[in-house]
Amino acid sequence: MTILGLVAAVLFIIALRGLSSASTSLLGNRFGMLGMGLAVALPFLAGDELPWAVAATIAVGGTIGFFIAKKIDMTALPQLLAAFHSLVGLAAVFIAGAICATPEAFCVATVADRIPLANAIEMSLGAAIGAITFSGSLVAFGKLQGILSGKPLRYPGQHKVNLFVALAIAALIAAFVYRQSVEYLVFAVLLAFLIGFFLIMPVGGADMPVIVSMLNSYSGWATAGIGFTLENEMLIIVGALVGTSGAILSNIMCKGMNRSLPNVVFGGLSGNNAASTAQSGAHGNVKLCSAEDAGFIIKNASSVIIVPGYGMAVAQAQHVLKELTDALRAEGISVKYAIHPVAGRMPGHMNVLLAEANIPYEDVFELDDINHEFGSTDVAIVIGANDITNPAAKDDPNSPIYGMPVLDVEKAKTVLFVKRSLGAGYAGIENALFFRDNTMMLLGDAKKVCENVLKAIKG
Ligand code: TAP
Repeated sequence: MTILGLVAAVLFIIALRGLSSASTSLLGNRFGMLGMGLAVALPFLAGDELPWAVAATIAVGGTIGFFIAKKIDMTALPQLLAAFHSLVGLAAVFIAGAICATPEAFCVATVADRIPLANAIEMSLGAAIGAITFSGSLVAFGKLQGILSGKPLRYPGQHKVNLFVALAIAALIAAFVYRQSVEYLVFAVLLAFLIGFFLIMPVGGADMPVIVSMLNSYSGWATAGIGFTLENEMLIIVGALVGTSGAILSNIMCKGMNRSLPNVVFGGLSGNNAASTAQSGAHGNVKLCSAEDAGFIIKNASSVIIVPGYGMAVAQAQHVLKELTDALRAEGISVKYAIHPVAGRMPGHMNVLLAEANIPYEDVFELDDINHEFGSTDVAIVIGANDITNPAAKDDPNSPIYGMPVLDVEKAKTVLFVKRSLGAGYAGIENALFFRDNTMMLLGDAKKVCENVLKAIKG
């Protein structure tokens, strides 16, 4: 059985490797599913005597998970992840509670009714991190789902209160480990629930993706902590994989959004938060453009860069974009896609949608690899993107997105913006690009507009 456990762990590692590139991600995902299937089947294969309720719970949970995953909209994935992380956190708390109540049932050896020191530390840390993950994820879910306001909730002395609560948790855990009296652990967990809430409430909407990824990381560490207590290698390996990969992803996202990781982890230390509705004060004339005009401009170009954003996902315009790309290529026009690291609403959002529409990976470029090409490009077509092109990130120190790397679309000879209005994007700020001389606005639903432009190009 140890060998099978090792096989499952290796499958998870291969899965992560596969998920690191768009071209191998599907295969990576399948390896992950295989590993998880094996991990769930292990106790049954080992012939352990399991109450029927365990099998029933796995069946019910698996079925619910299957249908939720089938039904969920791509745009709602971040909040789904947050909701699922909350369950991982809660599971860690429950397991720690169960071990505390009946250590022998979990093969945790006790000496004179005392849980060994190392086990007590791992278990209480796992429970505390699990509790933070649970309440923090619920707040993240509420904010992303629009049940709670996306505005950061701040009050004077907030960081001192957080520090005080964190110290109280550490003291209670120490008291539990020393005295082995369960009340200390209960209070530590209750305070951990509270600090999860305190940590995430001050975080504004635009930092939420980083928070979801960070909570993902926490859920991994909680799992690993419990794994040490249960001496379950698989939980340790999987927990460590989730913990580290979540932390690395959070770091990458922080760089993409110009946020610092400690700032996000400790809850909005700076005032730079995208839930602000700061305005850039951009004004001027807006040039509206019809699909026919756009078709004419694009057809006369020799190079085009398409910049997809959240609006493309909402409109599900990726398939018609593929047709548009094919039509342009048939005319001998070079077409490339530029992807911002935080375009859309989750990491890799645009890559997944473009892959779904069979747009070849080699046509899709990351920000750093394509930004220098806008200056030598005839037309940049921005499809339902906004913040990721906003020059305020480069030239307005008061802007909530100041410092975030953005795509330099304005350097192209002509910029065509496809969106429904002049309204703001996720960060809630105006985009001065709409008023530039080389910008034309094609107002309407991204899919409809692209269909009309395609018609104009074809004929
Ligand atoms: P946004 O700045 O949110 O802009 C999207 C634009 O799409 C909106 O201005 C909207 O304008 C337009 N739109 C919406 N529905 C449309 C439709 N059916 N047809 C055409 N246009 C439509 O998106 P972005 O440029 O992709 O930037 C992403 C933002 O989300 C960043 O601020 C980022 O920090 C944040 N964020 C990112 C993530 C990750 S990890 N990717 C997660 C959460 C948040 P109209 O209303 O005028 O149409």
